[in-house]
Amino acid sequence: MIEPIYRPAEDRYQSGMKYRRAGRSGILLPEISLGLWHNFGDVDTLSGSKRKLHHAFDRGITHFDLANNYGPSDGSAEETFGQIMKSSFAPYRDELFISTKAGHDMWPGPYGTWGSRKSLMASIDQSLRRMNVEYVDIFYSHRYDPETPLEETMQALVDIVRQGKALYVGLSKYPYDVAGRAYQYLHEHDVPCLLYQGRYNLFNQAPAQEHILEQAHEQGAGFIAFSPLAQGLLTSKYLKGIPKDSRMARGGFLKPDALTPEVLARIEALNDIALRRGQTLAEMALAWLLKDETVTSVIVGASSVEQLDDNLKALQNTNFSEEELKEIDEALSK
Ligand SMILES: NC(=O)c1ccc[n+]([C@@H]2O[C@H](COP(=O)([O-])OP(=O)(O)OC[C@H]3O[C@@H](n4cnc5c(N)ncnc54)[C@H](OP(=O)(O)O)[C@@H]3O)[C@@H](O)[C@H]2O)c1
Repeated sequence: MIEPIYRPAEDRYQSGMKYRRAGRSGILLPEISLGLWHNFGDVDTLSGSKRKLHHAFDRGITHFDLANNYGPSDGSAEETFGQIMKSSFAPYRDELFISTKAGHDMWPGPYGTWGSRKSLMASIDQSLRRMNVEYVDIFYSHRYDPETPLEETMQALVDIVRQGKALYVGLSKYPYDVAGRAYQYLHEHDVPCLLYQGRYNLFNQAPAQEHILEQAHEQGAGFIAFSPLAQGLLTSKYLKGIPKDSRMARGGFLKPDALTPEVLARIEALNDIALRRGQTLAEMALAWLLKDETVTSVIVGASSVEQLDDNLKALQNTNFSEEELKEIDEALSK
């Protein structure tokens, strides 16, 4: 059967999505971005991945976040994206902001991981081939490599931009002090770091507590939050046990032992506050991040179009009263 040609929704920029500027740059990201860490690998159906990606773009999500090793299997999320790029998104390439990263384990041997020039240079070429694109919009060092000189990793990022393989560069999960040196090196080489990607959600507020957010702001970079729903914990999905088709049940990074009685009590208390606000817990968790203008975007994961729609509703109310913020703090200290 021949599939109909994908035509994006004509009202995709009128459906309520707003775009925030990343620091002092020309980068404008949708407040909600979609990440392909899970749910887009070769263990998932291509038709399901296509449905989610089409739906996201139809609703104004123009930023898709990838990495060399997303899947499973490693590389397969980029391959899925590459197939959809070819079949659907190619005419809209200039509307899309596509990221990828290198730094975690990807291929065997000493160069398939961390931050050497050899690893980064090989990885970006592989990613471009898998994704069927000539360049990515932003290329990240996925994690700080304490063994390779920082200058080597940073110079590789600079050269990747000079070679036209990425337009911008970013840092992911770098500790505060190293990030400071990295910002400086990149700035001095005229390829400033314009996005810092960090884990930030109601349960993990380290980027605010460790001044990473403040640092990004001072350096003229945007901050983009990953795992904003704590991989699904900050939704109503685990309130009545562990659903069979959930990330926790599938095994992987989110383990059942994360759901301690204390965590469950916090989820229940947060869920009550969300309901009083007329939101789902997922909506409130995203709105809580987006209330802060220094958060450029939140990267959600979604295993269905329905989850994506629920998450997009967060944009309808990102204001919190002092009383609600107090209640949230109390819920978190349970
Ligand atoms: N830089 C880094 O090192 C790094 C690390 C991790 C992630 N990231 C990026 O951040 C992206 C998002 O990370 P994440 O997947 O952990 O994000 P997340 O949004 O915190 O978790 C996504 C999971 O939450 C559940 N979910 C989402 N919306 C829901 C809703 N409305 N109701 C109920 N459940 C819902 C789904 O779980 P089920 O599958 O159980 O349905 C979904 O797979 C990744 O794809 C990646 O692009 C970057």
